[in-house]
Amino acid sequence: MTATSAPPSTRRTALRVASKDAVADGIVALTLVDPAGGRLPDWTPGSHIDLVLPTGEGRQYSLCGDRWDARTYRVAVRREEPQLGGRGGSSWVHDVLAVGDLVEVGGPRNHFHLHPAEDYLFIAGGIGITPLLPMVEAARRLGARWRLVCAGRTRASMPFLDELAELADSTAEQDDGERLVVVARDERERLDLEPLLGGLDARTRVYACGPAPLLDAVARHCPPGQLRTERFSAAEPPAPVRDAPFTVVLQRSGAQVEVARDVSVLEAVRSAGAAVLSSCREGTCGTCETGVLAGVPDHRDSVLDEAERERGDCMLLCVSRSRSDRLVLDL
Ligand code: FES
Repeated sequence: MTATSAPPSTRRTALRVASKDAVADGIVALTLVDPAGGRLPDWTPGSHIDLVLPTGEGRQYSLCGDRWDARTYRVAVRREEPQLGGRGGSSWVHDVLAVGDLVEVGGPRNHFHLHPAEDYLFIAGGIGITPLLPMVEAARRLGARWRLVCAGRTRASMPFLDELAELADSTAEQDDGERLVVVARDERERLDLEPLLGGLDARTRVYACGPAPLLDAVARHCPPGQLRTERFSAAEPPAPVRDAPFTVVLQRSGAQVEVARDVSVLEAVRSAGAAVLSSCREGTCGTCETGVLAGVPDHRDSVLDEAERERGDCMLLCVSRSRSDRLVLDL
């Protein structure tokens, strides 16, 4: 796969499905490779890629394989039933996509970086283990202390428990109890955050990924400066800073488009001919991330951290808007 200077929202490459395996109830893992056997772009723990559906929409999945294997990506996809909010992407992966097929992929990108620390507490809800698995492996390699709590409906619904147990077994002894704790609701176990997060050492960094109620509960118990989360659903965005329309300039084509108050920047740039990939359209997946070359974005997403917002050099087009009269985008 060749490197490209295209912005993340438009960068795509065709990869081949090398394997597709059931790894838990309703979850399959895909191994993706370059069709010519080449190296894939490097990634860091917390990164994700976008699988591009036949409809042209993208779906975001965390990379959960071996970060040091330069020739394969692994993602895990849980089947999301339409009556529970699934939008068809996971059904396509489960029912249609087959070993040997080519699939378009965007990314990788990372908005969930693992920052250096002496001590980590990882908290996963169900499929939320996927970005955390490479983080656990990184912590193990770096010799940091780590604990992981995996919560889910049943053990059979939680992927990669065997791999996680191996990681725990291959990590040097530590004196603060079990490294891997599995909490399965059908075994009448309950995730009690109070003892886990109460009196947390100031040096411990907490990384959590899972459903919104779990993340909200973790946030209530954890000092904000020590917590990083990745959400499946959007936090309530603040009101836009400005009501008035603004102008977006597409640097590559020179096109200018007026963004009215009831139109998203994503819709506006698409109407001007920009082929921007999107998925969640609620500011949680990062798929529509686009470079900002001039102007001041009004960030309204659940993806970027404070430092990234402060820099103002990228934005999520599906929900974010503009503080300035004009934005110049790297499109
Ligand atoms: S499409 Fe998901 S953040 Fe914009």
